[in-house]
Amino acid sequence: MQGEPITTRGVVFEGPGTAPRIEELTLDPPQRGEVRVRIAAAGVCHSDLHVVDGEWERPAGVVMGHEGAAWVEELGEGVTGLETGDLVVLAWTAPCRTCDRCKADEPWLCLQPDGSGHRLSPDLARLHRANGEPIGAYSGIGTFGEGQVVAASAAIKVDPRTPPEIAALIGCAVTTGIGAVRNTARVRAGESVVVIGLGGVGLSAVIGAVAAGANPVTAIDTSPEKLELATRAGAHRVLQARKASAAGGADHVLECIGLIETVELAVDLVRPGATVTLVGMTPQGQRASFDVYRFVEDGKAIRGSNYGSADPARDFPAIASDYVEGRLPLDLLISERIGLEQLDLAFDAMRRGDGARRVIVY
Ligand SMILES: NC(=O)c1ccc[n+]([C@@H]2O[C@H](COP(=O)([O-])OP(=O)(O)OC[C@H]3O[C@@H](n4cnc5c(N)ncnc54)[C@H](O)[C@@H]3O)[C@@H](O)[C@H]2O)c1
Ligand SMILES: [Zn+2]
Ligand SMILES: [Zn+2]
Repeated sequence: MQGEPITTRGVVFEGPGTAPRIEELTLDPPQRGEVRVRIAAAGVCHSDLHVVDGEWERPAGVVMGHEGAAWVEELGEGVTGLETGDLVVLAWTAPCRTCDRCKADEPWLCLQPDGSGHRLSPDLARLHRANGEPIGAYSGIGTFGEGQVVAASAAIKVDPRTPPEIAALIGCAVTTGIGAVRNTARVRAGESVVVIGLGGVGLSAVIGAVAAGANPVTAIDTSPEKLELATRAGAHRVLQARKASAAGGADHVLECIGLIETVELAVDLVRPGATVTLVGMTPQGQRASFDVYRFVEDGKAIRGSNYGSADPARDFPAIASDYVEGRLPLDLLISERIGLEQLDLAFDAMRRGDGARRVIVY
């Protein structure tokens, strides 16, 4: 039996340059293959800031946020494997399992993921303004809101002992960083790893590299506070960005900022015969360059890592278990717990490079 619409609150993106504002919205019941969730916690990722600052073009009229954990509150028809009360991590790419990329076991490159289009079309929008106008959900999950209806395939059940704030970060930063190490770069014990940029994503990469037995793990940032966090995360060596060239010759270099300057630096720092992994994302349309002669002679490679080359259904529960069993010090990622009304302050802090992850708790 389907329930009634409920009222909820969420931060609706109204285009670059407009301050995030909380709105009262109506949330419809879940339809076939969907679940209604109550968001438990949501992390603020630099990808949200790219959108707010107009560096990535995204549609207006969408509840923002793409990193979050939630409790299942209502099941639509035909949903199996989930029950009300389950703690789920929300995936910003929920693979369709039928397209060519999914069949090739590259679900992070799914050609038609649930939630593409941000559930903005009238048939998919479950959120509405009082005047009936449909409101979307960023990447199908819109975690800067108290309630959402999402595709069941985007709601991945994890160990209920996972604290919701940690579960939230598994939805983006942690899986992106650890996945880049485990799945994209396939770092092996004893290999040397350099991580450039120590926000939520880069610190997760450091944690993943240490857990993989990499040695030495070198962490680079401009902020002394971030270098201190990297040390707590187990990095063997930390370097101020202006001294980055001292890290040259590494088996793996992961760029986790999205700056042309550090993308080009990463290509220089990796040893001949090895692969640079690009995780950070620049404003759309930017191009980097490198010395082609040297690159070819040195037999280097560059690889992009989207969502840590992860399969959410496999990697989210595995990472949550690793945390619960004490193998990943993910607590150090959380620099502050805030309310939804403090979102603009969190964006300001991120623009200054201050703090690792800020997590909204509802
Ligand atoms: N590939 C993916 O699937 C994926 C997923 C999530 C996020 N991202 C991207 O990853 C990037 C990082 O995200 P985040 O949330 O960790 O960001 P963040 O803003 O929290 O962290 C960026 C870090 O870079 C440091 N930094 C800035 N300029 C620097 C410089 N010149 N040299 C050294 N360090 C410098 C800052 O001090 C900060 O610690 C963003 O571009 C984001 O869009 C990519
Ligand atoms: Zn993100
Ligand atoms: Zn697919």
